[in-house]
Amino acid sequence: MSFVNIRDVTKSFHRNTVLNRVSLSIEEGEFITLLGPSGCGKSTLLRAIAGLNPIDEGSIEVGGRDITHLPPRKRNVGMVFQSYALFPNMNVFDNIAFGLKMDGLGKDRIRAKVEEMLAIIDLKGKEGRYPHQMSGGQQQRVALARSLVKNPTVLLLDEPLSALDAKIRRSLRGEIRQIQRRLNMTTVFVTHDQEEALTVSDRIFVMNHGVIEQAGSPSEIYTSPVSEYVARFIGNYNVWSREQLQGRAFRGVPGEGAMFAVRPEAIRITDAQAQAQAAADTAPEGEGIVADGKVSLVSILGNIQRYEVEVSGLRVTVDTLSGHAPDRIGPGAEVKLYIPAEEWKPIRPSA
Ligand SMILES: Nc1ncnc2c1ncn2[C@@H]1O[C@H](COP(=O)(O)OP(=O)(O)OP(=O)(O)O)[C@@H](O)[C@H]1O
Ligand SMILES: [Mg+2]
Repeated sequence: MSFVNIRDVTKSFHRNTVLNRVSLSIEEGEFITLLGPSGCGKSTLLRAIAGLNPIDEGSIEVGGRDITHLPPRKRNVGMVFQSYALFPNMNVFDNIAFGLKMDGLGKDRIRAKVEEMLAIIDLKGKEGRYPHQMSGGQQQRVALARSLVKNPTVLLLDEPLSALDAKIRRSLRGEIRQIQRRLNMTTVFVTHDQEEALTVSDRIFVMNHGVIEQAGSPSEIYTSPVSEYVARFIGNYNVWSREQLQGRAFRGVPGEGAMFAVRPEAIRITDAQAQAQAAADTAPEGEGIVADGKVSLVSILGNIQRYEVEVSGLRVTVDTLSGHAPDRIGPGAEVKLYIPAEEWKPIRPSA
């Protein structure tokens, strides 16, 4: 039995089914991410766990307790939102202490707990500041402390980083992950940013229109998407149907599967002319799918060099590490592409 068990949760708003029999389990201390585009139901699922949205069907259990029908304040669940939602007229100390005061804790206990939190979020000495005197990142750390100080059984984070600029975002997500590990806090994180999800999560649940399309570790999701939807969402996969490949210059397409995904960095690119000169010496190692193509575009994306290659009218994206890119391959170059057989991932087409 897992620490959090969500079973067949269904939720509709005015006949619009937003969660369709969603089931998932989370282990104690695990950091999981709900990943998906706007409107797929991420916040609705989070709010269902917090008790802010009553659900139509299904059950939610946390730490062996069925909380499906409990009011939010009895669930002992912490939630942090995209907007910092701090009390603007209270300083940092009072913002963090607010929930403890409501619970009727004594002054000394409150002080001790708030100080412990200030150390954890690295804002010691700033307890007298007001929200408007702090950066967005600092405010979000206070919002996190305000949830953690109540020692919730589960921490829910609804796009807590999306109002911050890219650099703060990256550093704060690392900090959140460290704090979460230190406290062994079971956490559900929501984002629509695949890079963020891949970086911070123990496991990712990719959502699509109210269902979980795929669950797995970041490397499973990244290297083995099960469907066209996940392959397209996770980034730069080449996605091709068998029909698209038929009659084109790919030699050795796998015999089974209606649709395939191939990562750009899994494709090897060589200059066709250099290849011919060196003849058999440079023949690719092992079995693979081979195609002849013509480069239409070369671009530098930081540490990645990206080629767009036309293979009889079909566009293929190929990535190499900048600095490791083969010489002389520019726009117009005739190239050979090699795709190892195991990199050819069969996927389920989207409906
Ligand atoms: N209170 C509500 N009343 C009616 N429809 C709602 C309500 N809350 C959410 N919805 C609808 O449910 C769907 C899912 O919304 P939800 O907020 O869960 O999406 P999300 O995945 O969190 O998206 P985003 O990334 O934009 O935050 C949307 O179509 C939304 O319009
Ligand atoms: Mg949302």
